[in-house]
Amino acid sequence: MTKRQLIIEFSEFKSLSELSQADQELVAKAKEILTNAYAPYSGFSVGAAVLLANGNVITGNNQENAAYPSGICAERTAIFYANAQFPGMEVKAIAITASVNGKIINQPAYPCGACRQVLLEARNRTGKPMKVILAGSEKIEVVGDARDLLPMPFENLD
Ligand code: THU
Repeated sequence: MTKRQLIIEFSEFKSLSELSQADQELVAKAKEILTNAYAPYSGFSVGAAVLLANGNVITGNNQENAAYPSGICAERTAIFYANAQFPGMEVKAIAITASVNGKIINQPAYPCGACRQVLLEARNRTGKPMKVILAGSEKIEVVGDARDLLPMPFENLD
């Protein structure tokens, strides 16, 4: 028997000003788009901004439904739209942030399991790392590759 460990590395920042200009801009777009979220059931608004290799930024937010499972998260709204418009285009980074009662939450909001699976699939289309920027108002965490968010994943069967 062999015991193994998986270690996830990420960077933690106390303030947005510590991020690169490009990353700050992506977070700003995620913050902007979360105001358009449709979240009457949870009151939890999420915004996601996706930076593509061609420089385009695609944004999305969560869209809820009276039949709860029919809603969709911000990350999937943004990633699926990006893939729909620019199929196969490398996704360089995604910024994710959330608010409650109009106030950005203090701690980073982590993507749900289904979104991690979708981020991994999008990342695997090119095999290039997809940076994930998780922005709270008091802490920002940056994961170098979406792959790190889903250890031991179910992926491309060949
Ligand atoms: N939500 C997201 O948009 N992204 C996530 O990664 C987690 C959860 C949304 C779904 C739902 O509309 C609300 O947040 C509360 O779960």
